[in-house]
Order: sequence, then structure tokens, then C-alpha cells
Amino acid sequence: MSQPQPPILYDPWDPGFIADPYSRFKPLHTQAPRLIQSDKLPRSVRATTPPGAPIAMVARYADAVTVMRDDSRFGAARPAARKSAPGLGVFGAPPLVFTDPPLHTRLRRLMGRPFSPRRLREMEPRIHAMAHELLDRIEIKARGGREFDLMTEFANPLPTMVIAEMLGVPASDYEAFKWWSDTIQETDFVPPGAPFPSRIMEARNAMRAYFGDQIERHRRRPAGDLIGLLIAAEEGDALTAEEVLSFVILLLMAGNETTATMLGSGWLALGRNPDQLELLRSNRNLIAGAVEEMLRYDPPLQATVRHARMDTELCGTPIPAGTSVFVLLAAANRDPARFEHPEQFDIARDPNHHLSLGEGIHFCLGAGLARLEGTVAMAAMLDRFPRLRLANPAAPVSYRPSYFIRCVQSLPMRLD
Ligand code: HEM
Repeated sequence: MSQPQPPILYDPWDPGFIADPYSRFKPLHTQAPRLIQSDKLPRSVRATTPPGAPIAMVARYADAVTVMRDDSRFGAARPAARKSAPGLGVFGAPPLVFTDPPLHTRLRRLMGRPFSPRRLREMEPRIHAMAHELLDRIEIKARGGREFDLMTEFANPLPTMVIAEMLGVPASDYEAFKWWSDTIQETDFVPPGAPFPSRIMEARNAMRAYFGDQIERHRRRPAGDLIGLLIAAEEGDALTAEEVLSFVILLLMAGNETTATMLGSGWLALGRNPDQLELLRSNRNLIAGAVEEMLRYDPPLQATVRHARMDTELCGTPIPAGTSVFVLLAAANRDPARFEHPEQFDIARDPNHHLSLGEGIHFCLGAGLARLEGTVAMAAMLDRFPRLRLANPAAPVSYRPSYFIRCVQSLPMRLD
């Protein structure tokens, strides 16, 4: 007789889970993907999953790679029948990340040049300058005391300022971008049965109106930035007007909270592993590796979703067509079959092929930018404040309510 399988304790609404998802993932590393019934799904997935249908949980590294590489069996586009579910989408047209080929191929091709290594090298001095501008402000403000909040004063503004400049919109509007983006992402933390807060719709409308205006401004006065490039693609019939708006909003939203989280969770891990922080201080050549380990150890995007495009199977588990497949990136990154001592935070880990930036055709478009921001930001912080540390490494940390993104809300730091 086969042993009953232990229940899957996957409930991102449970404070215990939020405090430590990783211990819940451990039993999943020894099992083939499982189909489970869940009434705890985020709104975006509930809207695309037929009522009562199970979802598939994929936690092992090899299974996660299989799903993300096989876009012919596992698509990113929402199943057509339920696309119009209410409350979904600031995007008027499906954004790149929720498309399958050939649409995905057409959209992604447009973004080759602005995110190329050459273009990123050109951006590096600007990112460096913006990081130092924020650190200047921290230094001036901290004169009286020596404490500041890493998230509000550095990690949140930096990626928004960078992408605003790339898009060609005023970086000074950053607080509005942040509020819209955070509020819209709360969509996935509206518990089942709870009313849909009106502020989410307000944020969506305001964001669409703002970027609609910015696109019109660019049409009147063409520029060589990302919005200019998207408008040129529209004029060449490669994009529709809705696709331009959708792309702009995706670029603004995709990189901000993720990159901010990488810095916040990364400093949390460094602060709680002082030997690793000392190692980094003494050997700056380890910065790039440290950024990879920050990404692996506590990934900003904890999971992503695919939809089975046909009846199929995964390691013997039958997966009916239309099933939502949860790929638990955070669990895969701790799979002992792939990583030695996966629970250890080791900035010299090599190799470190984590899945925090995805895999396959949807591999993060902004990966190079995120890595650059991470290395420039870490170098700037260590240079400016050689004794920078967490104010209280043992203090509990609160996370922003979000189903997919694990973002520390605030992280008090000390300069001395
Ligand atoms: C540390 C920061 C970041 C993390 C952890 C991250 C993570 C990811 C992951 C895991 C995916 C794949 C999603 C999937 O397969 O369903 C993805 C896709 C994407 N990311 Fe990032 N990202 C980061 C920064 C950025 C930045 C800075 C940008 C751009 C400004 C960006 C733009 C995108 C876009 C457009 C996609 C969709 C790509 C496609 O579907 O082809 N990301 N990201």
C-alpha cells in the first residue's frame, strides 16, 4: 500500500508561512509535482482557474526548469475562456510576460537593443550617480542620528529612478509610480471572498491616464528613450497603441519592487550572516557573486504561473489541459538535489544557477539591468558607509502583503 502523502502547506495568507516559507517547501523536494485543491489562490490565478479545478505545485529544481523551458506544453498566456475575469489587469493588451509565441516572439524582439549589454554599460555611470545622490541625502539626514530605512530611502527609489530615466518620464514622479505600482499589486492579496478595494481601480486608472499622457507627449516630441522606441514600433505597425501602453506599464512595474526587494532581502541576509558581510567588505570582487546569492537565497519573485496547454504529465503526475501550474522558484532555489547546503547563505557559491530571474523564453528581460543595479548599489553603499549594518539583526521583519513578491516593508540600518 502506498504511503499517504503529507499535505502541502502552501498558504501565503498565513503569517507563519510569510515569516518562513522555506521550511514549508522542504517536504516538496522529495515529491513529484502534486495536484492540490486550493481556495487560497491569488486573485489573478483564481480568475483563470475553473472553479473547483486543482492546481499543480512544482517545487523541485528539475521540474521547474522543465515547465519553464517547455512553452509548447506550459503557456504563460491566460486561458482564453476566463481572460475577461473582473478586476484583472492594468494592461489593456496582454503584457509580454503573459504571452505565448508567436506574440511573445514579436514583442520580445523589440526590446533587444535597449536592454543589450552595450546599452547597459552606457547606463552604468547614471545608475552610479543616482545611487550616490540617494546616499548623499541619507548622509545629510542621518547627521543627527545614524539610522535610516533602507527601503524608503534607497532600495525603493533607486530602481524607479533608473527605469523612469530609461523610459523618458520624470523621475521626480517616483512617489506616484511607487504608490500606483504597489497598490495595483495588492490585487493578489485580496483574500478570497473579500471585496475588491476601490483604491486598486483608482491606482489603475491614474497610472493608465498618466502614461497615456506621457506617450502623447512623446508623440509630439520624439525622443531616443524607451517610450520613443515603442512609439516608433507602433508607427512601423509592429505594435498597437494599447500594446505600447501595456509595455510601458510592464517595464515600470516589473523591475521596481523586484529590484528593491533584492536589495532589502539581500541586506537582511548579509546582516544575519555577519561573516558573509565581513567577507564582502574585505573582497569587493565578490559583489557580483553576492548579488546572485541574494537572488537565490530569498528570491523577490517567489513563484510564477503557467497554464497547461494540453493534457500532459509531469514526472508521472497527470496534468489536465487548463490546469494552473505554480512554479515555486523560491523552493527550487533551495532544492538539495541542485544546491549544496541550500539553506546556507554563501556569497562565494559557485556555480549558482538559481531560477530567481526565470528560465526559458520568459527569462527576465531586465536581468542585466537588475544585476547592474545590484552590483552598483552594493558597491556604492559599501564605499560610502564602510560600517553600514542592520540596526537590529534579530528584529522580526514585516513583509508587504503580496502573493508572489516577498518584499520587506522596511529595514532600519545604521551607518556606524
Ligand atoms: C531583481 C530584480 C528582478 C527579478 C527578481 C525579476 C524576476 C523575473 C522573473 C522570475 C521573470 C520571469 C517570469 C516568468 O517566467 O513568468 C521576469 C520576467 C520579466 N522581467 Fe524581471 N525581474 C527583475 C528585474 C527586472 C527589471 C529591472 C526589468 C525591466 C525594467 C524586468 C522586466 C521583466 C520583463 C519585461 C519580464 C517578462 C519577460 C518575458 O516574458 O519575456 N525585470 N523577471
